[in-house]
Amino acid sequence: MTGSRIIGWGSNLPEKILTNDDLAEGGLDTSDEWIFERTGIRQRHVGGSTSQMSIHAGQQALDRAGVTGDDIDLVIVATSTPDQLMPGTSATVHAELGIRGGACDMQAVCSGFTYALMAASGLIRSGLERILVIGADTLSDYVDWEDRSSAILFGDGAGAVVLERSETETLLGFDLGADGHHRHIGYTDHHGKITMDGKEVFRTAVRAVTQSAKNAMANAGVTADDIDWFVPHQANVRIIEAIANRLDIPMDKAIVTIQDTANNSAATIPIALDTAVVDERIQPGDLLLLGGFGFGMTWASAIVRWDPNA
Ligand code: ACO
Repeated sequence: MTGSRIIGWGSNLPEKILTNDDLAEGGLDTSDEWIFERTGIRQRHVGGSTSQMSIHAGQQALDRAGVTGDDIDLVIVATSTPDQLMPGTSATVHAELGIRGGACDMQAVCSGFTYALMAASGLIRSGLERILVIGADTLSDYVDWEDRSSAILFGDGAGAVVLERSETETLLGFDLGADGHHRHIGYTDHHGKITMDGKEVFRTAVRAVTQSAKNAMANAGVTADDIDWFVPHQANVRIIEAIANRLDIPMDKAIVTIQDTANNSAATIPIALDTAVVDERIQPGDLLLLGGFGFGMTWASAIVRWDPNA
């Protein structure tokens, strides 16, 4: 049987930090107390470019995997904020990292990384050997900094993994879905800014991710009791709590990075994964639930047995 395993991981955040206090002092009618209480966010990193953050995160993942671009059959960059409309951001990453194989972008907004991971797992079954999967976004370019109901939520960042063919399957189950009827509750027009009905996004996200996580666990033949770490999309800590609660997963099993990063879209899940592997919370053998949602609405979940040496 052909399976796949994650053998490298990495992340990158722009140096510039905007704290909640910076936003309030900059004239936005808000406060650190309000933002933290309603979202769990203290600060966000801004000022990155999607390709540059992708290159740094991707290089780190290659280094940790002990491979080079020459060993990679395909790079997928999940992003909704590409550097240019054409070509894909993956073309820049391809050139800078010396990728030997193909390159493409994937657009499923904040669900993009998990969609890309599922696609990569299927492509490995189709014969590819090694795939670099990156989630990266530069939402600060599209934030309306005068709209306090959305400006507080977003930031920039990138995260990456290297997926390699293995005899043992460690990507045990997936679920993905979308409901395009909800596309009006969150969108950005060409040359526009992020427009969102926050309450509706909140409600829809909790319902969709909870069901998607249950589907992925059923597909993998595991239950919530088996999950060691919930690695969720970081949009609002109250959304993470509501989903964990509905899944009967205690919050001390959830990896929460939103306080430092805010929501950097397709980057949040690989950044949370990288953070918890590097700080050694996630250990070989642990069972992970990756799950999130994005404008569209889209949603996706994955069950991963963490075993870089499988
Ligand atoms: N500071 C202070 N007050 C604020 C702020 C702010 N930043 N924002 C809103 N308020 C006020 C409102 O004006 C309102 O005042 P009112 O009662 O006088 O009318 C009050 O606070 C309550 O506002 P609500 O909108 O009810 O606040 P809520 O608790 O719903 O929180 C939030 C708003 C944080 C946006 C929440 O709904 C949310 O996180 N939704 C999910 C959004 C999301 O995840 N989007 C990303 C999707 S992922 C992607 O694809 C990019």
